Amino acid sequence: MERKIEDKNVAVVGLGKIGLALAAVIANNGYRVIGADINPSVVSLVNEGKSHVKNEPGLEEMVKRAYETKRLYATYQTVEAVKQADVVMVIVPVLIDQNNETDYRYMDLAVNEIAKAIQKGTMVIFETTVPVGDTRNRFGKKIEEISGLVAGEDFHLVYSPERVYSNRIVEDLANYPKVIGAINIESLQRAVSFYKKAMKCETMPVSSLETAEFSKVAECVYRDVNIALVNELAKFASMKGVAMDEVVQASNSQPFSHLHKPGIGVGGHCIPIYPFFFINKGLPKGLTTLARTINDAMSEYAIDKLEREFGSLSGRNILILGLSFRENVKEVTKSTTLLLLEQLAQRGASVWINDPQFSKEEIAKYGVTPLSFSDEMTEQIDGVIMQAYHEPYRTLDFSIFPKCKVVLDGRNVLNKEEISALGMKYIGIGIE
Ligand SMILES: NC(=O)c1ccc[n+]([C@@H]2O[C@H](COP(=O)([O-])OP(=O)(O)OC[C@H]3O[C@@H](n4cnc5c(N)ncnc54)[C@H](O)[C@@H]3O)[C@@H](O)[C@H]2O)c1
Repeated sequence: MERKIEDKNVAVVGLGKIGLALAAVIANNGYRVIGADINPSVVSLVNEGKSHVKNEPGLEEMVKRAYETKRLYATYQTVEAVKQADVVMVIVPVLIDQNNETDYRYMDLAVNEIAKAIQKGTMVIFETTVPVGDTRNRFGKKIEEISGLVAGEDFHLVYSPERVYSNRIVEDLANYPKVIGAINIESLQRAVSFYKKAMKCETMPVSSLETAEFSKVAECVYRDVNIALVNELAKFASMKGVAMDEVVQASNSQPFSHLHKPGIGVGGHCIPIYPFFFINKGLPKGLTTLARTINDAMSEYAIDKLEREFGSLSGRNILILGLSFRENVKEVTKSTTLLLLEQLAQRGASVWINDPQFSKEEIAKYGVTPLSFSDEMTEQIDGVIMQAYHEPYRTLDFSIFPKCKVVLDGRNVLNKEEISALGMKYIGIGIE
């Protein structure tokens, strides 16, 4: 293979939450980075030195610095970016559709464009979470087919999963070891050397592309199954009148127990989605499928409890705190609130949503009525559900809901004594 001496020009395809952070970190480490994104407003902002991603400590400053030092610019033409690159990093989403089948539409588009512009010696690294085997058999093959080049001979093919957590992406990029798999030893060595310099992070080379791909899916499956297990235990604790938070603390004081926290549901674009990359590829029945079902059924379980307190929820004013799938992020993908809305609609409740991350207009798009704590309507709320424990909720005074009879704490984060002292019934998940 014709090798480049130095990997100084990097194309990052997909400048979303993760791609922009990757691009900014690499540019700040001295590389010339061209980001490619199909969204023109993302491209324009980056070319003004601005980040479209908020709530990520350090990111806005890094994007600004990269822009000022002329190390980062963006284009909506992937071909243009790839033509100039020694290394191409791909971080556009692979999703699932309504039937839980893998949805490759964004990735296939990106791969086609990359294949048109790739040159001999280029290293292509996929970072998106994907089903096992896709880097070699789907994306690598497509690049070979279109470009006429051969993976492992004419271009390097690598997979390295992104494992970062929203709200601390920049920190995690530096601190988590980078798991790297490649098509051959030459590609692996080049990728390890690139990541050590470009990301200044520890690396963890593994023996194949598929090992690296599966390590990320397995991580997500582990978390989903662990949460399902503790949810099941929490239901039992509730039947027995035992407080689950105390049980978890006591059990985990022994080093072999790693029980998670129970909760009203699992949302976001990772944990509820990636188990299907496993389930869809030859393991339709088993623990993973069951865990998905258990976690998605937690909303129904919780609303059943709420309903029992009222007799009927018909006509009751129920407020959900948090549209986002979790605290302090502005992201609705697979949010448990969407499942709660279905449950509450079936039972005829009137639903209100508060979420400081969203404007009233953004909340109204989900077909529900937004509620501010200054609205008079707070006085008419019959029940409150804590779904995403955003920072401002830490100081929320529940006495603004004088008519409220029940507080359903879906994340086991509220102060039971304080709520009970207001004459409201407190229900947690496995804590009553
Ligand atoms: N967000 C997370 O917390 C997280 C954590 C770990 C791993 N990941 C992985 O990172 C991937 C990307 O996540 P994200 O949060 O950055 O997504 P995102 O939705 O914020 O960004 C995706 C970006 O890709 C762009 N895009 C889509 N198709 C494109 C194409 N064909 N060519 C160029 N650009 C294209 C979109 O316009 C968007 O800006 C996920 O699919 C997942 O595999 C995400």
